[in-house]
Amino acid sequence: MYRSRVAGTGSYLPPGVLTNADLEKMVETNDQWIVERTGIKRRHMASSDQACSDLSLIAAENALKDAGLTAQDLDAIIVCTVSGDQVMPSTACVLQHKLGARNIMAFDLSAACSGFVYGLSVADQFIRTGVYKHVLVVGAEVLHRFVNYQDRETCILFGDGAGAWILSRTSTEDKNVIMSSHLHADGGLGDLFVLPAGGSKIPFSAEVLENKGQYVRMKGREIFKNAVRTMSHCCQEALDANEMTADQVDWLIPHQANNRIIEAIAEYYEFPKEKVVVSVHETGNTSAASIPLAFQMAKDDGRVKRGQVILLTAFGAGLTSGSLLMRY
Ligand code: UT7
Repeated sequence: MYRSRVAGTGSYLPPGVLTNADLEKMVETNDQWIVERTGIKRRHMASSDQACSDLSLIAAENALKDAGLTAQDLDAIIVCTVSGDQVMPSTACVLQHKLGARNIMAFDLSAACSGFVYGLSVADQFIRTGVYKHVLVVGAEVLHRFVNYQDRETCILFGDGAGAWILSRTSTEDKNVIMSSHLHADGGLGDLFVLPAGGSKIPFSAEVLENKGQYVRMKGREIFKNAVRTMSHCCQEALDANEMTADQVDWLIPHQANNRIIEAIAEYYEFPKEKVVVSVHETGNTSAASIPLAFQMAKDDGRVKRGQVILLTAFGAGLTSGSLLMRY
């Protein structure tokens, strides 16, 4: 049996930016409300010629470089997204071709904002059991194409971006490994956050466009409560499984949906604010990309270092949730 280590990481934020001031011109909202209620100041937007695989490609190339590997070394590709290039083929297959990887396994994983934690956990299983040596996990979204810019409750929240990690095989002696992951879903609460049309239940039609069924719909307040409850539960689960306490964790990197959600989790744990990575002000909610983007920001500015204990936790449509504890 083996363990997985994070061999390399990378990210990509498209240069286009949508600020709160821009949104003030589009819907009845204002910078003060958005900052106070969410912490978001701006979000990055893919350009019209960029799809999910294009953002994924740049993040993946950066991660490969960081790991000192090439695409030829990869044994599997998992792209975690709910805003892939198209329904089929998968964005992972598109990425495999764009990267010039071998004919390796490639698939998309749909767990919304929990996608990256789900993806890391799946990759970890393939590595632990000795099946694969190097797995690329990407969290990438171009969510702005699924947002109604007349709906002020959702359009202020979401942004685009991509993050990628390479998980590589290491020995059970290595300390810098993924220690545990815990994943959950509660399908009974699925209607709190949906993108209703475009699947087999409600295929595209003129009626769909008229009813704006191609855009996300969200019950924000209920989502908020569930986010705090489930992410707090998942953090506790990670600590209990490793017989650790919150003070042994160097960084908490939660899904970046809303600064008040992040603060509520930190408060629950009595977790010092300065040990929580927050990037939501810069990126908005980038769903599956949010955790690797936040991680990269903290790594690039020197906060996150090798050997530190890092707790990831996520929550999203489904409702899905999860946590992953690792030593980086
Ligand atoms: O990754 C998972 C995806 N989703 C989320 O993470 C969302 C989680 N939920 C949230 O982040 C928050 O619930 C929101 C930011 C969406 C909303 O914040 P809130 O504090 O829960 O506001 P609320 O829904 O309780 O609305 C308060 C008021 C309402 O007006 P009334 O009914 O009190 O007169 C809203 O109509 O704020 C109004 N409002 C806005 N005002 C200005 C809602 N959106 C806006 C807006 N600008 N953009």
